[in-house]
Amino acid sequence: MTELSFIHRFAPGNPREAAPLLLLHGTGGDESDLLPLGEAIAPGAALISPRGKVLEHGMPRFFRRLAEGVFDEDDVRRRANELADFVVEARKHYGLAAPIALGYSNGANIAAAMLLLRPEALAGAILLRAMVPLRDVPKVDLAGKPVLIVSGESDPIIPPSNSQRLATMLANAGADVRHRTLPVGHQLSQADLTVAKAWLERVEESTELAAR
Ligand code: MLT
Repeated sequence: MTELSFIHRFAPGNPREAAPLLLLHGTGGDESDLLPLGEAIAPGAALISPRGKVLEHGMPRFFRRLAEGVFDEDDVRRRANELADFVVEARKHYGLAAPIALGYSNGANIAAAMLLLRPEALAGAILLRAMVPLRDVPKVDLAGKPVLIVSGESDPIIPPSNSQRLATMLANAGADVRHRTLPVGHQLSQADLTVAKAWLERVEESTELAAR
């Protein structure tokens, strides 16, 4: 589907079942990559899955980097805003509530940047193998926003101190952060799915309770 500002795929789900998920792939992925993971983590949820617009040697990403783990922060800002605008468009077009981002690696990093720069775009986030996306961050209010960070103990790309710094940064802004570290590397594992699904069920339950 291309009529909105990002090439994307959309699965309508049953919107009454759960909050929609915004699926954000890793470097070299595309809009189809995370659909199976989204379906497994949130059965029945609407899924909106854009393709990153930046190409690195032909591989789609969500923002430019200067080297592995070294980001072009001007581009991070520009692209996070562009993606947040797409979320606004897609919500209107498909009639969706604010989504919870489910991002992996580069997709988790752009989701973290959106939380810091355009917090209203997301209802929460599941960040799989995320790192700090920006050094200078404006003051932001993430009061009560649920965020799950899942890191890999032996991730060769993300030092534990970096993901810990991200968790602290988001928690200091008021987000309700849960940070889990799994005995894995940068690749996703079955344990990521299990942890993310259980966390999301708890978040959905407490939102339902709060709405009663
Ligand atoms: C990034 O560029 O966002 C991170 O280095 C993760 C990656 O995509 O490899």
